[in-house]
Formats: sequence, C-alpha cells, structure tokens
Amino acid sequence: MSDSSINMTVRQTEQFLHLYKPPAIDGNFKGKHIISVEQFHRQDLDMIYAVTKDLRQRIINHDPSLVKLAEGRLMASLFFEASTRTDMSFQAAMRRLGGSVVTASNGVQFSSVYKGENLADTVRAAGCYADIMVIRHPQIGSSYEAAYYLDRLNERITIPTAVISGGDGAGEHPTQALLDLFTIADLKNGPDNLTITLVGDLLYGRTVHSLAKLIGLWGAQNTTLCLVSPPSLRIPDTVLDFIVKHGVKVHETNDLYEVLNQTDVLYWTRIQEERFARKADYEAISDNFIMTPALLNQAPRDVILMHPLPRKHEMGTPHDHDILDKNPRSVYFQQMENGMFVRMALMAMVLGAAV
Ligand code: NCD
Repeated sequence: MSDSSINMTVRQTEQFLHLYKPPAIDGNFKGKHIISVEQFHRQDLDMIYAVTKDLRQRIINHDPSLVKLAEGRLMASLFFEASTRTDMSFQAAMRRLGGSVVTASNGVQFSSVYKGENLADTVRAAGCYADIMVIRHPQIGSSYEAAYYLDRLNERITIPTAVISGGDGAGEHPTQALLDLFTIADLKNGPDNLTITLVGDLLYGRTVHSLAKLIGLWGAQNTTLCLVSPPSLRIPDTVLDFIVKHGVKVHETNDLYEVLNQTDVLYWTRIQEERFARKADYEAISDNFIMTPALLNQAPRDVILMHPLPRKHEMGTPHDHDILDKNPRSVYFQQMENGMFVRMALMAMVLGAAV
C-alpha cells in the first residue's frame, strides 16, 4: 500500500465518527452497537452493574443455568491490534454464558486482509456469521465504520449482528471504562465523593478518555478528577470540556505530589509508545511517571491502585511488580477479573438474554 493510500484509508475511517451516531441505550441494550461511553446514562450503568453482580454471584455458585444465557449464540472476534485481556476476557465471557467464539484462524492478518480486503468487507463477512462482533483496530472511527456497515448489512441478512468496540485507536475503549467504573463502585462505593487521579499518557490513552467521560455520565456528586501527565500528553480538550460540562471538578497538573495525598483512586497508565510518530518524543517523557512500592507507600492508606494493563516500566522493575502485587491497595487483578463479569453482562444484555 502506498503512503497516500494509507492516509486515504485513515481519513475515510475517521469520517465515520461524523457519519454514524451511536444509539443511546435508554434502558434497552438489545441489538445495540456499543462503541462509545456516550451511549450510556446513569440508569443504564445501574442496570448493567446489577446484572454484573448477579452473574458474578452465579459464577461463584456454579449456577448450571448460566450457560443457557447465550446457548447457540456466536461471537466473532476481530482484533487488528495487539491484545491479551480484552481479547481473552470477551472470549471467556461468551463461553461462560454458553456461547461460542469464531476468529480468523491464525489471526486477522492471515484473513483476506492479507489480500488487501478493506475493513468494511471484513466486518461484513464476520457479520454474516455471528450475533456479536468484537473489534479492536488501530484507527479512530473503526468501530463506527463497522456499525455503519453492519446496519446496512443487517437489513439484507437473517441474523443481525451488533458490534462491540474493544478499543478504537487512540479514541475510546468503552468496555474497559465500564469495568473500571464498576471496580471503583464495587471497592470504593464511588465515584461520588472521591478524588480520582489519572496518571500518565492522557493524550493517547483511550481507557482514560472513556473512563473520564463515563464518570461525568454517572452524574457524579462531589467527584474530583486529577489529571496528571507530562504537558505534551494532556487529555484532549474535547474530553476535558465533556467532563467539566458534566459537573466533575478537574485539577490538571504535571506534579503528582500536588494531588497524591488527597487521592482515593490512583489510576496508572502506560505511555502508549505505539501511537507516537517520533521515537524521540516518546523517549523524552517515557520515564516521567514510574509507580514503585516506595511511591505507593506515600499515598493515603485506603487508596486503591488501578491499571488497565499491560504494564511496562511505568510500574517499575519486575521486582517492583512483585512487591506492588502483594500490596492490598493494588486492585488491578480484581479489575481484570471484573472485566470478564462486566463483558458477560454486556453481551447477555445485547443478546437480549438478560435485562
Ligand atoms: C489498554 C488498551 O488496549 O487500551 N489495555 C487494555 O485493553 N486492558 C491499555 C494499554 O494498552 O495501555
């Protein structure tokens, strides 16, 4: 592919952000594409979190009827970008509901994408086979493009398919935000009356964009969001405007110590190296915010430390990881498990199998 045709593809995919408006959930998840947290309101969050807790309890109880919820239903998994947790947790969630999963054997790079097929046609193919499609793609707007074409395809075929975004370039990661907020609600009874500090790459970190907006959409009472990043990696103005408009108090700084001792939830992130156009720009700031056991000890005693993972040196050395992991304030493994519970709830609701 020539450089100009790659640029053309990128532009075309981004256009779908304007061409396609995701439907509001409005208390009804059935058949809806899930591609932005902006589709959710407080009542929708209350609904999905109630189902999440119910399904979690049913797993604990080894409830044999759990596998009836998605029996005979199929999820297609289209990952055009690296993933461990999002990919595996969606697959695990579908199987725990009794459904099945199809993927391109040997990965999507060995599907007809290799022959030059475009995104729309790959989506149409999976759309012909599955009830739900999960897509992760490096370009912003890719899940919007998938939804746009699936709406047209669904009118022509027998089994309609809903797409769920597993991460849209540096744009959004709605299901990660759903599981992050669930964890904050579950462990800290929040986000009301909490100071939540987001640290690291707030410019390219899609989990942060979705989480910040979702906290605004919760209608949070007395929540302060501290945004700590190098000046070059500030949160995008569109996200900032959104959260301010939704009544969240915001404190932006590049000095963690300004806010650390008031923090209830510390959300650490990886610098998104793969999104930088110039390696030198990454290297200039890659060592700015490193979580270590000593640093965590300076945070309030009842803080929770979250991280969407994967982690690299922003969580110190592998030895630091071992020490951090033993600290009860580190909750990223509970967060990861919650990801499966929340995705089970979301898919059961989109399939119309749970209210
Ligand atoms: C994140 C992602 O892919 O955006 N990971 C995840 O889904 N849990 C965060 C990251 O890659 O840093």
